[in-house]
Amino acid sequence: MNKVTRWVRYNLRYFGQPPWDTGVSPPELIRFLQSAPPGKALDMGCGTGTNLVNMASYGWQVVGIDLAWISVIKSRTKLNQAGVRGRVIHGDVSAGVHPGKEFDLVLDIGCYHDLHPRERSAYQANLANWLKPGGYFLLYAHRKKAVADLHGLAEDDFVQLSDFLCCQWREDSVERRPDGGGGHPSTWAAFMRCENDDQAKSLSVTGEG
Ligand SMILES: C[S@@+](CC[C@H](N)C(=O)[O-])C[C@H]1O[C@@H](n2cnc3c(N)ncnc32)[C@H](O)[C@@H]1O
Repeated sequence: MNKVTRWVRYNLRYFGQPPWDTGVSPPELIRFLQSAPPGKALDMGCGTGTNLVNMASYGWQVVGIDLAWISVIKSRTKLNQAGVRGRVIHGDVSAGVHPGKEFDLVLDIGCYHDLHPRERSAYQANLANWLKPGGYFLLYAHRKKAVADLHGLAEDDFVQLSDFLCCQWREDSVERRPDGGGGHPSTWAAFMRCENDDQAKSLSVTGEG
């Protein structure tokens, strides 16, 4: 999907209630927040801000980025209504956007998997720039159903991310749907930014493809 199509599509989706916008943070994020000391968190493709609010409620200083203006407005409203502080930037995570640096946590739930391969390289460069050594990258993504698919995460993505990140854990499963049915093959993974990039290259990703 090209950038313009994606921009139109997401803005249109946010006029209504898209299926991913459940208003509830996933247990994988909550477990992380319960176990890690608060710091600075960046939410890539923050949607309507549910995860920003939850991270802020655990004491995190939060910044969100989203391509869709409507989700930016909804996120800012949600933060205000919850009475928590946070910054929400309208921008493209795979382009020149400046959320700050030295994040202890970068979260991506459902944004990376929609990027074109060219945009993924730019995203990775941004991520390497924004995440501090020792910081975590928590990723939820659909996996590709077929090699030729543009949508979804491939094993190559793990190899590229492992240039500067060390995989801490990974769970391959199937998307949870509100109706209880089976959805898209999906993956949760937590990475840590290595203290130096040679360390990342010396480690391999765990789990199966
Ligand atoms: C599937 S939604 C998930 C939203 C949110 N993370 C959640 O869990 O509810 C993907 C989000 O990524 C945003 N997005 C897609 N491509 C983006 C890009 N290149 N830069 C910034 N945001 C993007 C969309 O506007 C949308 O809000």
